[in-house]
Amino acid sequence: MAKKIFFLLFVVISLSLLHEDQAITAGTEDGSEQWGYVEVRPKAHMFWWLYKSPYRVEDPSKPWPIILWLQGGPGASGVGLGNFLEIGPLDGNLKPRNSTWLRKADLLFVDSPVGTGYSYVDDVYDRSLPVKTDVEAAIDLTTLLKEVFNGNESLQQSPLYVVAESYGGKFAVALGLSALKAIEAGELNLKLGGIALGDSWISPEDFVLSWGPLLKAVSRIDNNGLNASNRFKMHLFAVAQMIKQQLAEGQYTKAEHSFFLLEEVIGNNSNFVDFYNFMLDFDNDPIEGTTNEASRRTSTERYSKYLDSSRSLSTSDDLPTLMDGVIREKLKIIPTNVTILRCTYARFSKKKSINFHSTFLLQVDELLAKGINVTVYNGQLDLICSTPGAESWEGLKTFLSLDRSPLYCGGDDSVTQAFLKSYKNFHFYWILGAGHFVSHTIFIVHLYILVATKFFSRSYIIETIQFLKF
Ligand SMILES: *[C@@H]1O[C@H](CO)[C@@H](O)[C@H](O)[C@H]1NC(C)=O
Ligand SMILES: *[C@@H]1O[C@H](CO)[C@@H](O)[C@H](O)[C@H]1NC(C)=O
Ligand SMILES: *[C@@H]1O[C@H](CO)[C@@H](O)[C@H](O)[C@H]1NC(C)=O
Ligand SMILES: *[C@@H]1O[C@H](CO)[C@@H](O)[C@H](O)[C@H]1NC(C)=O
Ligand SMILES: *[C@@H]1O[C@H](CO)[C@@H](O)[C@H](O)[C@H]1NC(C)=O
Ligand SMILES: *[C@@H]1O[C@H](CO)[C@@H](O)[C@H](O)[C@H]1NC(C)=O
Repeated sequence: MAKKIFFLLFVVISLSLLHEDQAITAGTEDGSEQWGYVEVRPKAHMFWWLYKSPYRVEDPSKPWPIILWLQGGPGASGVGLGNFLEIGPLDGNLKPRNSTWLRKADLLFVDSPVGTGYSYVDDVYDRSLPVKTDVEAAIDLTTLLKEVFNGNESLQQSPLYVVAESYGGKFAVALGLSALKAIEAGELNLKLGGIALGDSWISPEDFVLSWGPLLKAVSRIDNNGLNASNRFKMHLFAVAQMIKQQLAEGQYTKAEHSFFLLEEVIGNNSNFVDFYNFMLDFDNDPIEGTTNEASRRTSTERYSKYLDSSRSLSTSDDLPTLMDGVIREKLKIIPTNVTILRCTYARFSKKKSINFHSTFLLQVDELLAKGINVTVYNGQLDLICSTPGAESWEGLKTFLSLDRSPLYCGGDDSVTQAFLKSYKNFHFYWILGAGHFVSHTIFIVHLYILVATKFFSRSYIIETIQFLKF
């Protein structure tokens, strides 16, 4: 109840509905928030939510940026998770978040691909409506951007930075290419500022290969475990190779099955390591530890649950309750039969609608060749999208031989927080002490990333870091 009163007083100011072609837009009366649906394809509706920053600084030489946040999963809700549990203005208890990225940018959240969160299709039995590939998901996102940006000159002044987490990295890369194409064709009016890939599932093979040796090096498995994981790894790759050869369009189902088996082997041989932070036990996870089925759940299914932890929400409440309760009431335009699921990965998996094991390295190269700034940042303790895995990406060999610089926080140069290596428009950050969820684990270092990627001015960040220091 307290939550509701807070919400009524401070959040719901008013609602205005405008009906454009196939878009529904609403927002707060003061214009600080706008949200809506775009019919990205017939019968496919994508939800977006834009927050204008109260911290905006007008500087013609450095226009205020917009960050489009792309959540992982695939199928986790950016509007729910990314917004309320990671970087938005309010946390899961609807209390102001000091570390909101609104301090640095306007924030655009989307529920993508369609079928995720508040985004929906009109006919759930029509198998042609969900996207089948990452590229199709990116085309839908491009359609959404056209609807939101074209015809709004004030939005077009801001460069758009696409920041992705986990599986969202693939969508980000695909979106970068698709948006560039639309911009070049004069169909999309926006400035693409850059792409940032946080612990991103860009090259599944490299990550999977890295698990055994990494866990062995940090004593989390022994030789027996390494051997067991190698056997399954070989199995996984044999199956994946076969499928790749047979079906150029990629039916990755068998490889995916082997992938889950490999996860199980790693779990069995490590006494259940946490795939999002190899320093932790899976059972110690605040949420996972409470359920018996924990060890049977795969890491991808655990993705959205992980963030939904007691750090952000009280134990009597959780994100789906919030999203289906006060937030749905606030937004007004969410159809009653569209429900937020805790994790929608299963939907995508069962329908084989996303090629989980496809690789996106060539597409990253393409973005770089087109002069787009690409930043990769990886948490040191992540297993699922491990740093050694990312370092194995093809084409990085020469890059990795360059020198790297240490980074510190808040003027305290007694503790190394990260390392940075840059070559032309490519930047790689090693974030020490962080697991998979870099934005969540050590926000302060995350801000540093944005500084060093020249998203924001350095002095401003230092200020914020001091303000946030804990
Ligand atoms: C957020 O900032 C306010 C004002 O400076 C401070 O009182 C509060 O303790 C901060 N909260 C957290 C969680 O850091
Ligand atoms: C919601 O209900 C409408 C009208 O009954 C129906 O057309 C639509 O398919 C339903 N949508 C979902 C996602 O169930
Ligand atoms: C353009 O977008 C901004 C930010 O959401 C909004 O405040 C403004 O009303 C929009 N302008 C038009 C003409 O829609
Ligand atoms: C990429 O970053 C550099 C600085 O590192 C900046 O000068 C350049 O404008 C950026 N490129 C784009 C397309 O934003
Ligand atoms: C692991 O496998 C290798 C051969 O692949 C073998 O030489 C070694 O003895 C095995 N180690 C253990 C601990 O089983
Ligand atoms: C993991 O351990 C469980 C329990 O011992 C066993 O049932 C299962 O078959 C093991 N999985 C693999 C892939 O080895």
